[in-house]
Amino acid sequence: MSEGRTVLITGAKGQLGWELQRRAPQGYTLIAVDADVLDITNTDKVLDFVSQHKPTVIINCAAYTAVDKAEHESSLAYAVNALGAENLALAAHDLAARFVHISTDFIFDGLQTRPYATTDTPAPLGVYGASKLEGEQRVMEAYDQSAIVRTAWVYSAHGHNFVKTMLRLMRERDEVRVVADQIGTPTWASHLAQTVWSIAKHKMQGVYHYTDAGVASWYDFAVAVYEEAQALGLLTRDVAVRPIRTVDYPTPARRPVCAVLDKSALWAMPEINVAHWRVGLRQMLQDLKNYAQ
Ligand SMILES: NC(=O)c1ccc[n+]([C@@H]2O[C@H](COP(=O)([O-])OP(=O)(O)OC[C@H]3O[C@@H](n4cnc5c(N)ncnc54)[C@H](OP(=O)(O)O)[C@@H]3O)[C@@H](O)[C@H]2O)c1
Repeated sequence: MSEGRTVLITGAKGQLGWELQRRAPQGYTLIAVDADVLDITNTDKVLDFVSQHKPTVIINCAAYTAVDKAEHESSLAYAVNALGAENLALAAHDLAARFVHISTDFIFDGLQTRPYATTDTPAPLGVYGASKLEGEQRVMEAYDQSAIVRTAWVYSAHGHNFVKTMLRLMRERDEVRVVADQIGTPTWASHLAQTVWSIAKHKMQGVYHYTDAGVASWYDFAVAVYEEAQALGLLTRDVAVRPIRTVDYPTPARRPVCAVLDKSALWAMPEINVAHWRVGLRQMLQDLKNYAQ
């Protein structure tokens, strides 16, 4: 980024917010806030805060991400994911600041047999996906120069995610059963953060897809967690990882069966990190090991 050195990161205590701070380019002033300082659903507060601090870039990592709870808390999910996103887009528009907003593969139904292009028609299966889709639409209506980055299956050493849940279960149980008929791409939040910084730096606008490379079922992902954690000494006991069907693990929210995103546009950029998801997993587990020492 050549001019303008103040970047507002919302949802800063979340997985991506944390990795964005860790991966921030040198020389930039970060205003990294979470709901305790800036509740993005409060329109007046968002507009006041942004006009007071005058960031040149706003990156919105704040979101209601509890996919199952969203089915019973739809008002809150829409408030954060739709209204909150629109508030930030309006504030960015007022200042002519760059705005980067994060969205999800859950806007798709996952019934397609090829990777989803950014132009494919969304069809969310649940409240979370629908609220995120409305967020995308309200962002673009408020400020059509925004950038929206859809991603999937995000994990980091910081925060709550599938990898940390698997590690906990594998330390407690002799057998772990994991859904094998939902396909996607695990994405290390640190790789995603580097991509988001590139998008901000290049003043990109429009909708983009970014995940790590390759595909996996949740079962494949769990097997990889087991093998990589064993290799790093994070797990020292034998655990059987067994594949099960989605119908054998009912959840309040339906999930896309196959939501692989087509990342070709971003992958064509030389500076975008194209790493297999297993490489990201290894690095995240190494982070966990380092923090434990
Ligand atoms: N995690 C995934 O697998 C995944 C997959 C696809 C897309 N995404 C998208 O990627 C983005 C980042 O996800 P993430 O995994 O980093 O999420 P995360 O770890 O759940 O972090 C979200 C952060 O937003 C905060 N927040 C919630 N309501 C807020 C409000 N009203 N005002 C301000 N902050 C608020 C949360 O605080 P509390 O914890 O206190 O609520 C949390 O710190 C989100 O847009 C998400 O939809 C995530």
